[in-house]
Amino acid sequence: MSQVETAPARPRKRILTGDRPTGALHIGHYVGSLANRVQLQHEYETFILIADVQALTTNFHAPENLRQDILQVALDYLAIGIDPEVATIFVQSMVPEIAELTAFYSMFVPVAWVEKNPTIKTEARQRGWEDDMFMGFMAYPVSQAADITVVRAHLVPVGEDQLPHVELTRRIVRKFNQLYGEVFPEPEALIGQVPRLVGLDGQEKMSKSLGNDVLISDPAEVVATKIKRRAVTDPARIHPKDPGHPEICTVYRYHTIFNPAGQEQVRQNCRNGTIGCVACKMDLAGHVNGLLEPMRERRRRYEERPNDVWEILREGTRRARAVAADTMARVRAAMHIDYPGQGTGP
Ligand code: TRP
Repeated sequence: MSQVETAPARPRKRILTGDRPTGALHIGHYVGSLANRVQLQHEYETFILIADVQALTTNFHAPENLRQDILQVALDYLAIGIDPEVATIFVQSMVPEIAELTAFYSMFVPVAWVEKNPTIKTEARQRGWEDDMFMGFMAYPVSQAADITVVRAHLVPVGEDQLPHVELTRRIVRKFNQLYGEVFPEPEALIGQVPRLVGLDGQEKMSKSLGNDVLISDPAEVVATKIKRRAVTDPARIHPKDPGHPEICTVYRYHTIFNPAGQEQVRQNCRNGTIGCVACKMDLAGHVNGLLEPMRERRRRYEERPNDVWEILREGTRRARAVAADTMARVRAAMHIDYPGQGTGP
C-alpha cells in the first residue's frame, strides 16, 4: 500500500482592505471593491478592517455615532456574503499595533509625500480645509499604510480613489525595507469591475451626501423609487417612442453593469424607441433588486442578533492582533528596538 504524502499547506497570500464607518455602503462600493472581496476571500487570507480611527479624521466631533456605524458596516459586509468563518473582520481602534506602526513610519515619511496626495486634496477642498488641515486628517494615508502592512498584506482590493494611498504604502514599504531590512511585501491594489460608478443623476461619483445613491441596505421599494425619480436618461427623449441615445444615458450605463445579459436588447429598444424610459428604469430596478435580494435575507438574519455581530468583530480583532503582534516583533527586531524585557508588560 502506498503512502499518500500530504503536501504542507502553503501559506496563502493576504488581503487587507476596509472602509470608514461613516454610513451605509452603496452599490458603487459593491461593484468597485466589495464584490472582489467576496470572491477572493477563499483564495486569500482576507482581513477587512472597519476604519473607525480614520472616520474620526472627519467625525471627531461626533464619536458617539461610531458604535452604531461600525455595526452597520459589519452588517453590510455580512449581507454581501463575507463569511466570518473564512475572512477576518476587525475594528481598527482595537488593534493598537496600527497606531504604533504609524508612529514609526511618520519618522521617515517626508511631508511632501502626503501633501501631494490627490485624494487628500480633493477631500480637503470639499471640506474647505485646504489651508487649515488637521494633523490626523493630513496623515491618515500613513496610518492607512500601517493598516495594510500590519498584517503584511499582498493585495488591497479598493475603489479607484484609494490608489494614491496604496501607492504611498508601496513607497513606505520600499523605504522601510531599505532602511531596516526586508520585513514587508510590496502590496498591490486591485480595482473592481467598475472603478467608479457614476451617481444615479449622472454625476461623477455615487455618494449618499449627493443624494444619488442606492444603498446595499435599501428595501426593494426604495430602490425602485430612487431609480424612477433620480436616475437620468437621454434628455432628448420626450415621448417613449422617440429614438434614444443609450451611449449618453446613465440608466443604460447601469444596465451594462447590473443587467449585462440584457444590455444589447436594452440598447436596441432605446435606439428604436420601442421601450420608454420609465419602463427601462423599472427593468433596471428589477435587476438591481435581484442582486440585493439575497443580501437582504442575510442581513435580516444578523440584524436580529447584534451581539453575535459584535462577537464576530471581537473574534476577528483577536485574529488580527495575533498577526499584528508578530509583525511588530519583526519590526522591532529590524529596527533594533527589541530591547531586553520587551513585551513583559507592567
Ligand atoms: N480610506 C478607505 C476609505 O475611505 C478606508 C480604509 C482605511 C482602507 N484603511 C484602509 C482601505 C486600508 C483599504 C486599505 O474607504
